[in-house]
Amino acid sequence: MRGAPDGGGLGSGLDLHLDLHGTGGVGRSLEAALREAVRSGRLTAGTRLPGTRSLATDLGLSRGTVVQAYTQLIAEGWLTGARGSGTRVAGVLPESHLGEAAGQGQPEPRAAALGDLRPGRPDVSAFPRADWMSSVRRVMSAMESEQMGYPDPAGMPALRVAVADYVSRTRGVWASPGSTVITAGATQAFALLACTLRRLGARCAATEDPGFVLHRELLAAAGLHPVPLPVDADGADPSGLPEGAGLALLTPAHQHPWGVVLAPGRRSVFIDWARRNDSYVIEDDYDGEFRYDQQPVGAMQALAPDRVIYAGSTSKTLAPGVRLGWLVVPAALRDPLLRTVREAGSAPAVIDQLVLADLLSHGGYDRHVRRVRLGYRRRRHELAERLASVTDTRLAGVAAGLHTLLPVPSAAAERDLVDTAQRAGLLLHGLHTAGYWHPAGQERPAALVLGYATPPQHAWRRALDLLVSLVGATMRRRSTR
Ligand SMILES: Cc1ncc(COP(=O)(O)O)c(C=O)c1O
Repeated sequence: MRGAPDGGGLGSGLDLHLDLHGTGGVGRSLEAALREAVRSGRLTAGTRLPGTRSLATDLGLSRGTVVQAYTQLIAEGWLTGARGSGTRVAGVLPESHLGEAAGQGQPEPRAAALGDLRPGRPDVSAFPRADWMSSVRRVMSAMESEQMGYPDPAGMPALRVAVADYVSRTRGVWASPGSTVITAGATQAFALLACTLRRLGARCAATEDPGFVLHRELLAAAGLHPVPLPVDADGADPSGLPEGAGLALLTPAHQHPWGVVLAPGRRSVFIDWARRNDSYVIEDDYDGEFRYDQQPVGAMQALAPDRVIYAGSTSKTLAPGVRLGWLVVPAALRDPLLRTVREAGSAPAVIDQLVLADLLSHGGYDRHVRRVRLGYRRRRHELAERLASVTDTRLAGVAAGLHTLLPVPSAAAERDLVDTAQRAGLLLHGLHTAGYWHPAGQERPAALVLGYATPPQHAWRRALDLLVSLVGATMRRRSTR
């Protein structure tokens, strides 16, 4: 039904679906239907409801019935009514229903805690808004209407040119606009690849252990059986690679989460395996721009562009909410992959792609990466120094990326630290508590996975202080036992 503006001035032209088939009369049914719409989140806080006259007309009720229902719901706290601003859904719902309204499947609240050192996110408050806005302006004034049609499934040509140039220049990838495919981030890229390779006959996929949980999950969701490869100081160990597995999904520049670099000898073993088996290596270069002690190790893809699929993303450089990433694919895979993209209708929004292309080609992207890299390097250094003052345990992995590992003695100690931190308002992840091991087992090494890029600058020091005091207290307890 449509609630049109009415003489009462409260109309909003709002489309409102209300099911009035309850018991106890139409007035009660209307109350119940409105309550349910608010409780379920269909009507969100602040939404302006139709005026009583237009709602009554639309529902075939008397205006008095609607007035009475609104009055009752205002008294209960579901709605608010103020002269001149109409009747709206209340901002704070009645106490008894807060739990239900919080909703399942909502993203975890990140801001509520005092500190957040979970990995997986850059400092999103550093997003280059001014440069992004300049790019939006340039794009919107130069864009031709024709470009607003359905996008090329491989991505907008301007962005493919800019990305191919960027990944060749900064990561040594063998890329051309023709081999580049734009995606809505790396996760989507892996899902599209998994589906494509499954269709081409792959049945198993090797992943790192410990490894990124989503790697495992999305491969399994595509019907590929995940085969775990142990990780040591040289990265993923290829000795357990099954002949005939269709692909291996790796993080060569900075193993996630262990933080080591895939050794040159192992890179060759993976490539030989892929050649022998007509298989592919997917190189997840999720944080390859961030190396603090030396030049980043170049992309593995350059060793075998016919066997290694390179994947990059803006999630660690700009923000995960941008949802843009890219693949550089071997020629043989391009058409099968684009078929999957077409079928999934997954090509990212045209305007976003053009804005990113503009940001890259005007230098704003590189400038931003250089700026935040300096800040993260400082944070990492500070984290290492402060932790060294309370524990002899050294951080694991190379100085790179946005996270590091602090080994702890056992899975129980890890759980204890994560729980104690949470009670103190600090959010942490551990290898066990966040499900990095495959298979899980209490006897496997334990560590905190510390995402030092996550807090905004103003909250960094407080999060670090909290972490250092918690780790210090744990160390003191252990030494007095
Ligand atoms: C190892 C690794 N790969 C991929 C991703 C996901 O990237 P995107 O946000 O582009 O899907 C993440 C995000 O945390 C990651 O940690």
